Amino acid sequence: MRPERSTVSAGDAAAHYPTHASSHDARVAGYYSRRAHRRHAFCADGFQTKLTGVVLAPVSAFQYRDSVLHAEDIALPQLAAAHNTPLYVYSRRTLTESWERFARLFKGTPHQVCYAVKANGTLAILQVLAKLGAGFDIVSGGELARVLRAGGDPHKIVFSGVGKRRDELEQALAAGVGCFNVESAAELDRLNELALARKQQAPVALRVNPDVDADTHPHIATGHSGAKFGIELSKAEALAMQASQLPGIQLEGVACHIGSQITAVEPFREAARRLTDLAARLQTRGLALKHLDFGGGFPVRYQQNESLPEVATLLNELHALAEARSLIMRIAPGRAVVAPAGLLLTRVEYLKITAQRRFAIVDVGMTELIRPALYDAWHEIREVQSRKDATAELCDVVGPVCESADFLGRGRRLAAQPGDLLAIMDTGAYGASMASNYNARPRVAEVLVDGARATVIRRRETLDDLMAHEILP
Ligand code: LLP
Repeated sequence: MRPERSTVSAGDAAAHYPTHASSHDARVAGYYSRRAHRRHAFCADGFQTKLTGVVLAPVSAFQYRDSVLHAEDIALPQLAAAHNTPLYVYSRRTLTESWERFARLFKGTPHQVCYAVKANGTLAILQVLAKLGAGFDIVSGGELARVLRAGGDPHKIVFSGVGKRRDELEQALAAGVGCFNVESAAELDRLNELALARKQQAPVALRVNPDVDADTHPHIATGHSGAKFGIELSKAEALAMQASQLPGIQLEGVACHIGSQITAVEPFREAARRLTDLAARLQTRGLALKHLDFGGGFPVRYQQNESLPEVATLLNELHALAEARSLIMRIAPGRAVVAPAGLLLTRVEYLKITAQRRFAIVDVGMTELIRPALYDAWHEIREVQSRKDATAELCDVVGPVCESADFLGRGRRLAAQPGDLLAIMDTGAYGASMASNYNARPRVAEVLVDGARATVIRRRETLDDLMAHEILP
């Protein structure tokens, strides 16, 4: 059947979505003006808070020794010589410590931390976390397959995501995942039907949209009305009651996730309050819930003078909210676990000095790290070895990709010359996992450093890899 021609004109469409464009524009403008005015006062970060005597800050394994930046016990120039650039370099020690900060926080009390695989799904990274007992938050059949291959426990997997396909739901039912975070009435029906066909009951939490404004980049805010994510709060109670009657569904909890890199506590608190109120109402109506899932979004300090909320304190508050309702707290941090454990090593190819700018053109671009282009994200860029024979000057660090958005950092004070190595810091999260082959650029190698040993955990793609799936008729 031919699809019906849309009769909606541009004007009608605007009437249909009266606030869509304007509210998005306002959100973008608001974000940038808040960011510009944000105080860059140095204040305590949750991960540096002492809690029950435990220091939570992971000491970065990326430190200078004799003026050369190292990853644990290996000098980065040595890694570049052995594996070439661009190169993702991860520290097993920082990753482990970073995970354990979360795990240790609630030791002895029921809780579940599910690492959000989308932040970095490289198998060896997942394996390190699986061995530490991590749970996993996944959003696709591909992520499920990765976690299982890396040795993750299927019972500790939460399947999130707004558009789960039938085959993905079946794959997850077959694997026996611990929970499906369902985002719509239609998904609930589909899951019920598929579970019944397999003579299973699917463990479910309803992901609600708490309608809070997370103070973060508009592209990574998910918990406001107008976002595609979650079930409208006003409809969630009725849907939960329906879910509790479905024979293929075992309703076990409620969930939310309001965005990523949220640098204020209030949105977290407000969302948590709304979610807990919903859980309380459902409990009053006789539903035996097991857990409250507050999602991820916990911020990372990308800039040294950035002021961040006390995440440990916040997590304690969330935990207390769940405990007061006799529910298990679940969280799904991605960035905060893995960002500080990785850097992206790059080499300066050229310096280009124009009337207006000084460019350091490096061998990585938005294909390896898209965050600056996509979110105007700021990553510290360090010189691997400082130079005595050149003065530092302000320059834009840009990549070779044919897009004006292809930059890594603007206005950075660097003395680097062609051939020098730079390290783009805190790129363990949403770096390699968002890489692409645009401009026919092979994906780069990744190494995991453990003390004085470096293991290649993803080999550099070859030109044959690039074309391996294509067919010339
Ligand atoms: N749970 C759900 C349902 C999510 O959608 C996400 C992230 C997380 C947990 C983990 O959030 P985290 O703790 O990592 O903030 N590419 C963007 C971030 C997108 C996050 C998407 N969802 C970036 O590079 O900033």
